[in-house]
Amino acid sequence: MTTAETAAPTGDLARPAVVRTRAELRDALGAWALSGPDASDRRAVVMTMGALHEGHLQLVRRARQEAGPSGQVVVTIFVNRLQFGANEDLDTYPRDLEGDIAKVASAGADVVFAPTPDVVYPDGDPIVRVRAGHVGEVLEGVFRPGHMDGVLTVVLKLLHLTRPDVALFGEKDAQQLLAVRRMVRDLDIDVEIVGVPTVRDPDGLAMSSRNAYLSDAERQVALTLSRALRAGAQEAAAGHGAGAVLASASGILNDTAGVVVDYLALVDPATVDEVSADHTGPALLLVAARVGTTRLIDNQAVDVAAPAERGVAPGQEASRE
Ligand code: PAF
Repeated sequence: MTTAETAAPTGDLARPAVVRTRAELRDALGAWALSGPDASDRRAVVMTMGALHEGHLQLVRRARQEAGPSGQVVVTIFVNRLQFGANEDLDTYPRDLEGDIAKVASAGADVVFAPTPDVVYPDGDPIVRVRAGHVGEVLEGVFRPGHMDGVLTVVLKLLHLTRPDVALFGEKDAQQLLAVRRMVRDLDIDVEIVGVPTVRDPDGLAMSSRNAYLSDAERQVALTLSRALRAGAQEAAAGHGAGAVLASASGILNDTAGVVVDYLALVDPATVDEVSADHTGPALLLVAARVGTTRLIDNQAVDVAAPAERGVAPGQEASRE
């Protein structure tokens, strides 16, 4: 498909306009602006790398709500080479543009922007890039150096190209969501960022395009990640402290053959810095692990009760913590 198709009327479930070039995208954005949207209508953007699943479709449905019935929902589909390391799955990353278009149509997208790499990077890899700084150096950054810089660079470019009022990102990539929020605040980008909860299969596995790599047996092993997170959250709900939350989750991960843990961390949701042993209040329990050759990430919000609420006198933390 090389030319833009006629823009579908916004807000219906018709096949979206599929645009591949910057000029086609500009036309599709301009056509909506000229269609006389209400003052409350907005343009909402969902950025993806394709191989779409129900988690992405939840983002698109929420985008539809955020945009309003006559707003414009743009979905970008672009496998961004800048965020892949040398030994990662850039070449084998699943791609299914026709299938993706059908899926986002059913979720209410108006426009699919599916550029080729030379459209996004016309001069080759960009010389000037976004640096995620500390937010990109911890956790994922330890195992995927430069990954978050690559993500933020393409997110900033796609924000410039699509000019949304609101952009939606999944909470499964919690560190990415935080990095995007920081970039928007630190660089004064005029867009609202909305996080959308993780969608899970009925057995608890967080949806991810990379789940397609798992064999049936590996998929069973992969369930350990969500099981470990749930166990950690239950520890917190039972009134135990940060140490117990981590011990419970890591016990489950360590007891399962076939899971190689990159990290398990309890972090401050505002900074992704690891919390101290005496932390109380909201925290995020994050895990990254490999099952076979597939690397998976997941996370779960937990609320760590204060020692007094746990029936522990100040300075007398229970030994299991
Ligand atoms: O989350 C993703 O799929 C990607 O990191 C994103 C945000 C589309 C940037 O390439």
